[in-house]
Amino acid sequence: MHGRVEAPHSNRRDFENLKKLTTYLWEYKGRVLLALACLMASKLAIVAVPLLLKEIVNALDTGVGTQVGTGAGSSDNIAVSVFDAFSGNDVMLVGLGLVGAYGLLRMLSAAFKELRDALFARVRYRAMHKLSTEVLTHLHNLSLSFHLDRHTGSITKDLSRGTNSLSSIVNLLVFNIVPTAAEFLLVAGILLGGYGWEYTLVVVGTVGIYIFFTLKFSGWRMQFRHEMNRLDSLSNGRAVDSLLNYETVKYFNNEQREIRAYDEHMEGWGDAGVRSQVTMSTLNFGQAAVVAVGVTIVMMLAIRDVAGGVISLGDIVLINALMLQLFVPLNVLGVVYRGLQYALADMDLVLKLLEREPEIQDKPKASALAITEARIEFKDVHFSYLEERPIIKGISFTVEPGTKVAVVGPSGAGKSTLSRLLFRFYDVNAGSVCIDGVDVRDCTQTSLRESLGVVPQDTVMFNDTIRYNLAYANPEASDERVFEAARRANLDDFIAQLPQGYDTIVGERGLKLSGGEKQRMAIARVVLKNPPIIVFDEATSSLDTRSEQAILVGMDAVAKRATSLVIAHRLSTVVDADQILVLDAGEIVERGTHESLLNSGGLYNDLWHMQLGNESANAT
Ligand SMILES: Nc1ncnc2c1ncn2[C@@H]1O[C@H](COP(=O)(O)OP(=O)(O)OP(=O)(O)O)[C@@H](O)[C@H]1O
Ligand SMILES: [Mg+2]
Repeated sequence: MHGRVEAPHSNRRDFENLKKLTTYLWEYKGRVLLALACLMASKLAIVAVPLLLKEIVNALDTGVGTQVGTGAGSSDNIAVSVFDAFSGNDVMLVGLGLVGAYGLLRMLSAAFKELRDALFARVRYRAMHKLSTEVLTHLHNLSLSFHLDRHTGSITKDLSRGTNSLSSIVNLLVFNIVPTAAEFLLVAGILLGGYGWEYTLVVVGTVGIYIFFTLKFSGWRMQFRHEMNRLDSLSNGRAVDSLLNYETVKYFNNEQREIRAYDEHMEGWGDAGVRSQVTMSTLNFGQAAVVAVGVTIVMMLAIRDVAGGVISLGDIVLINALMLQLFVPLNVLGVVYRGLQYALADMDLVLKLLEREPEIQDKPKASALAITEARIEFKDVHFSYLEERPIIKGISFTVEPGTKVAVVGPSGAGKSTLSRLLFRFYDVNAGSVCIDGVDVRDCTQTSLRESLGVVPQDTVMFNDTIRYNLAYANPEASDERVFEAARRANLDDFIAQLPQGYDTIVGERGLKLSGGEKQRMAIARVVLKNPPIIVFDEATSSLDTRSEQAILVGMDAVAKRATSLVIAHRLSTVVDADQILVLDAGEIVERGTHESLLNSGGLYNDLWHMQLGNESANAT
């Protein structure tokens, strides 16, 4: 799933996507319509400019007539004729009036264009803001398994991709393609109305060939961009991953290997980039050639007609100006087209992501879980992460309200998985997990997780202060309660030693804290949250025996009224459990109290004596 998966052109649903896009824009339909009106006004003004120019030239031409060389329509001659125009008063007045109108039109055209952009800004930013919030919300709703499959780098890209693609599509369509098309129609209309089919045919033909060539050629060279993007996200993912694993990379002296892998991807990226540039230059040249040929033919027609006296000198100025005006925006068509392709591809990815159904969802009529006693029941639960490999194979047990049940067993037996099922990060394949008789699939996830607290096996922290991280469990808690929780988790001595105390930043993922400190932070969080059900997953595995004892006392105080499920490696921490489950390869192989399990002489008995042996060996 990682990296940018280029959606092949064929299975993209551009039309549906564009339709969806308009729903984001339509929220401000008044503004949108106003902006479109401005767009049309600006285009009318811009097309009127050459029309006026023609009038100016003609006015001067008749005024000073013979002085101007016939058959030449270049701007030099216009300048000459304007100077000459000052000889006749009437001509000058008309000319000046027209020139004034000309300036005004240019200004109006610019004013409408800027007004359009200003009006549209709110629509665009609002839509971007809405879409990116939606994407983030959705990413949070997607299941844990989705996120475990992904690279951090590519997830953050999804977010920016969504907003950027929306902005580009709007920019390109509203500010580029639609205005150009409108202008083209106006120009074609003027040519057809004023100068006959020959001109229209050449201009329409040139534009047609131009567009055809641009689209075909751009389509072909998309592959190089795709390759670039693919290698770019591969190398990006690799770089982010290697930096996230900074410590691991150093432990194994693998900097060279990481850099080599990155370097290889970047080399491929560079090659694809060069190919992309070369083909782009070819494209640009091809476009310029088509335009040059088209403009030349049109100007030849115009000169023929001026010479033949069919059209005036003003007309030639008009035609020339119209052509230039038309082809300038077309020049960027290739870029616009490519931009639109990328933006549509990105938009497609983001919208597909948004359509992706979260695997874990609240039922339509799910009600809030109301804890009455806090009894946990696992009833013949079967579960596997991957179909081929069952992890939990028919487990049943009950944790009575207010009691403590311990789960012990070898690594990989499925202990932490039980906790994930209780939190409903995954759904069971068969059987059920119930709290107070309510299946966890029947209540809302929010209410379920509100009732549960966990001290996880690996605690990760936000890169913020200790105070922030503790209060994360209960943002409304007063400072006093935060301090109290820290005291209960045996953290206060440690925090007191820190120069910045509670305002110390813990580093990315909490890496500036020791394992044991992080565990105590997690315990303090649970104290603050104070839920009726608590899961301790190896809560004290990173602590030395003395701190462990101190914390166990604190933990017991926290868990006194709560129902607790304690997962432990060190059996000495669970001797007081009301029931101990010995889990092996996804099955409960023994259950009972510490005494009864010792007496039965099974796996628990073996484990106990093994650990006892280790501890006494360590002691001597
Ligand atoms: N997301 C996952 N996808 C596939 N397999 C997984 C996933 N998470 C865990 N597993 C596998 O499920 C098995 C049980 O994992 P679990 O974390 O429950 O073990 P555990 O009993 O808590 O072990 P430990 O004592 O080492 O923490 C392991 O073999 C693990 O490889
Ligand atoms: Mg575990």
